[in-house]
Amino acid sequence: MSHPLSLVTFLSLLFILSPAAATTIGVTYISSPGLPPPEDVVAILQSLKITAVRLPVPDPNIIRVFSYTNISLFLAIPNSLISPISANRSAAYRWLYDHVIPFYPRAHITAISVGTNVLAEGDVTSADLVIPAIHNIHRSLIDMGIRQIMISTTLSFVNIMTTSFPPSSAEFQEPASNLIIKPLLDYLTETNSSFFVSLYPYSVYKLRPEIPIGFSLFQEHAYNFREDTITGVRYRNLFDLMVDAVIAAMAVAGHENIPVIVAETGWPCFDPFNSVEARDVYAKMYLQGLVKHLRSGKGTPLRKEGVTEVYIYELFDTNDTATKGLKSDGTGQKWGICYPNMSTKFEIKFSDGGSTMMISVLIIVMKFLLLINGLLISC
Ligand SMILES: *[C@@H]1O[C@H](CO)[C@@H](O)[C@H](O)[C@H]1NC(C)=O
Ligand SMILES: *[C@@H]1O[C@H](CO)[C@@H](O)[C@H](O)[C@H]1NC(C)=O
Ligand SMILES: *[C@@H]1O[C@H](CO)[C@@H](O)[C@H](O)[C@H]1NC(C)=O
Ligand SMILES: *[C@@H]1O[C@H](CO)[C@@H](O)[C@H](O)[C@H]1NC(C)=O
Ligand SMILES: *[C@@H]1O[C@H](CO)[C@@H](O)[C@H](O)[C@H]1NC(C)=O
Repeated sequence: MSHPLSLVTFLSLLFILSPAAATTIGVTYISSPGLPPPEDVVAILQSLKITAVRLPVPDPNIIRVFSYTNISLFLAIPNSLISPISANRSAAYRWLYDHVIPFYPRAHITAISVGTNVLAEGDVTSADLVIPAIHNIHRSLIDMGIRQIMISTTLSFVNIMTTSFPPSSAEFQEPASNLIIKPLLDYLTETNSSFFVSLYPYSVYKLRPEIPIGFSLFQEHAYNFREDTITGVRYRNLFDLMVDAVIAAMAVAGHENIPVIVAETGWPCFDPFNSVEARDVYAKMYLQGLVKHLRSGKGTPLRKEGVTEVYIYELFDTNDTATKGLKSDGTGQKWGICYPNMSTKFEIKFSDGGSTMMISVLIIVMKFLLLINGLLISC
């Protein structure tokens, strides 16, 4: 039984069967009156086994609550502060003194996005201030002796890409490409940071009705694929296709290896303008399909390790949906995965219990022992 070869075989079997490093899956959390207090939110996240949170409106009191938890934090600096921070380093210091210094490293802050979807506001010149603002935040953090936090800005897929199909021909749009994206990519490479992107198959599907809905929702059917006619690669879902479009566009811009973080993705359960696609049943398919795909560790055709982190938009339905469709009466799209009473709208398996892993290891060990027995008997 203790033949060294069999031990080696056994270990290599274990190695082959252990999944590739899968993507970190987090969620966007915005607090709002009428929603549970942050302490309860931490408990929900822990029970769902969610290990990363994006705070687009980072209140210091909320950051404090995440101290001493193992939940990592992705903070965003509001767009309204980009201009003062770009102009004056003391504005950068002030923001960091309020949101980072009192809590770091007890609160596990891993990323800061200087602005979110700035190009969506259509004003390239003010978006142009993003790069100097990023540099001011970066230099201030270095002065404070903090080097581990990634800094970038979050750009929205639909505002930066020329075309997503075929993904291998994708490029970044001008003038944003030269003004913002290229200097950003240079900075990200220099500082080992990541490219942050909001990426909604929902929006692309709405713009391109010829895309089958099943392709947007991770439904697996034999004919449910799109072939990239240039590379011959088959795409089985729209999410991978969009990620690879970003990766191809970065390569055209001279940066092939920058990690990608999907700062926002999701699917609305409801739309006040009566979009038929905004339904619970589709949101459930999209999110279950997304999480299953990310956890498989398969990556995308152009990048086998896939994206490094993905933040689902969002934990609760909130009114932060101005850019995502808000009616004048205040009703907005509903993107939340939980009701205010903290129950989830549908089941999403963010993580295996350790037990299923143990069981699969046990099964492998038993199969292996049976195999060895069989070999011994047949000799
Ligand atoms: C955080 O993770 C470490 C190591 O994985 C573990 O020892 C610790 O108990 C965890 N803390 C909490 C609050 O979950
Ligand atoms: C930067 O902000 C500080 C503090 O608010 C102020 O004293 C200083 O004059 C500002 N500098 C510039 C160049 O605006
Ligand atoms: C970036 O990562 C490389 C390789 O891990 C390392 O040598 C380099 O010092 C890092 N640079 C910064 C600015 O952290
Ligand atoms: C959103 O706005 C509507 C209408 O103003 C209000 O009834 C609802 O309570 C708000 N929801 C949250 C979570 O703030
Ligand atoms: C939570 O709220 C939802 C929607 O209002 C409801 O369907 C569900 O039954 C509630 N769950 C609990 C445990 O109260």
